[in-house]
Amino acid sequence: MLSSSYEQRRSQIEHYFDRTAAQAWARLTSDAPVGRIRATVRAGRDQMRQTLLSWLPEDMRGLRLLDAGCGTGALAQVAAQRGAQVVAIDISPTLVQLAADRLAAEQPHLVGQVHFAAGDMLDAALGDFDHVVCMDSLIHYDTAHIAQALAQLAPRTRRSMLFTYAPRTPLLALMHRVGRLFPRSDRSPALSPVATDALAAQLQAQAALSSWRDGRSARISQGFYTSQAWEWHRP
Ligand SMILES: C[S@@+](CC[C@H](N)C(=O)[O-])C[C@H]1O[C@@H](n2cnc3c(N)ncnc32)[C@H](O)[C@@H]1O
Repeated sequence: MLSSSYEQRRSQIEHYFDRTAAQAWARLTSDAPVGRIRATVRAGRDQMRQTLLSWLPEDMRGLRLLDAGCGTGALAQVAAQRGAQVVAIDISPTLVQLAADRLAAEQPHLVGQVHFAAGDMLDAALGDFDHVVCMDSLIHYDTAHIAQALAQLAPRTRRSMLFTYAPRTPLLALMHRVGRLFPRSDRSPALSPVATDALAAQLQAQAALSSWRDGRSARISQGFYTSQAWEWHRP
């Protein structure tokens, strides 16, 4: 069951990515030139994607992967190249369409391997997976929502869940406070800075995760991009 606070947050995020930021996001995730600040974000995100991909098997033939909150679909493309059957879902129909168009234009031979869908990444109708990746798709949710999301995904995941969160650092806390000075209409949904200890405690408290173990973790910090990746897996 999805809580009403989760649904409320998801709807703000959908509005932001589907309308306010769709064009900027399309540009950031392309090769088009961007300003200096966004270039650091692009570089940080590229490094994060490489890190998450390095935690997945090189040969993914016969494996099913959920790209949960796929955005414009860069990670889904690489997973499909490795042979995975991919479900790429995003709450923003605009971004899902862009992801599907990009795959068809850039790697038409992989089109049959990626099923694109617009909707909630927690939808049980998506089926079972070997791996689930939430790259920066949970960073706008608070600690309790992140733990609940992973608890919902765990029973349908056979091997590992890779996700990122915005780590609580002094710089992020400052940016969070500064962000609150802007009028609400100009703001993106604020990142939710997460303390690792608090997140670990909430994850360990989830019955659905009792047989799971935490694995690798890595923090990527490049200019204006800071995100922490964490692997949870079945033993
Ligand atoms: C920061 S973007 C990252 C996109 C992509 N994973 C990447 O790294 O390029 C976060 C994405 O998560 C999506 N998202 C957030 N909550 C979601 C949910 N509950 N279900 C599906 N997608 C969601 C947003 O629409 C957005 O496209």
